[in-house]
Amino acid sequence: MERQQKQNIVLIGFMGTGKSTVGRRLAARLGYRYVDTDVEVEQVTGMTIAQIFDQYGEVRFRSEETLTARRMAAMERVVVATGGGIVLKPENVAALRSSGVLIGLEATPEVIWSRVVRRSHRPLIKRDITVEDIGEMMARRTPYYSCADVTVDTSERSVPEIVEAILAYL
Ligand code: S3P
Repeated sequence: MERQQKQNIVLIGFMGTGKSTVGRRLAARLGYRYVDTDVEVEQVTGMTIAQIFDQYGEVRFRSEETLTARRMAAMERVVVATGGGIVLKPENVAALRSSGVLIGLEATPEVIWSRVVRRSHRPLIKRDITVEDIGEMMARRTPYYSCADVTVDTSERSVPEIVEAILAYL
């Protein structure tokens, strides 16, 4: 891809595809700042994502997420790890795309399940969630993730390998 003015690297993808882990490594490699929409929402609101969902509902979380996406789109030379649902709003995709390249990360439902099931902090992942539930959620989300400029499968790659695959594309 041609190096552009719009330099940000925006990682999108379902929960558990490795956006935060890969994002941190990628930022270090590029000498970019690493930012994370979920962390930013938590800092701005002073609440955890789970608390926002619990007390105010998903709609309120999505509004905060959109404000965050806009702020991050105005930054330069950042690697942005996004929340898995950021692509649900076309305006978020448009804002982030205007600031850089959209890199999709994906993994199989089995791998996602094994990565997220014991992490109870995600409001959309219930403790008894099955691989099939994950597969259904992913299927509903798939059309939204197709906005990525390129997609990297993280199921069987190590973090350094994923980083290299992304760098090869830039
Ligand atoms: C969500 C993904 C989460 C977080 C929130 C909702 C989603 O981020 O934004 O729990 O709708 O997919 P991660 O993808 O970083 O887990």
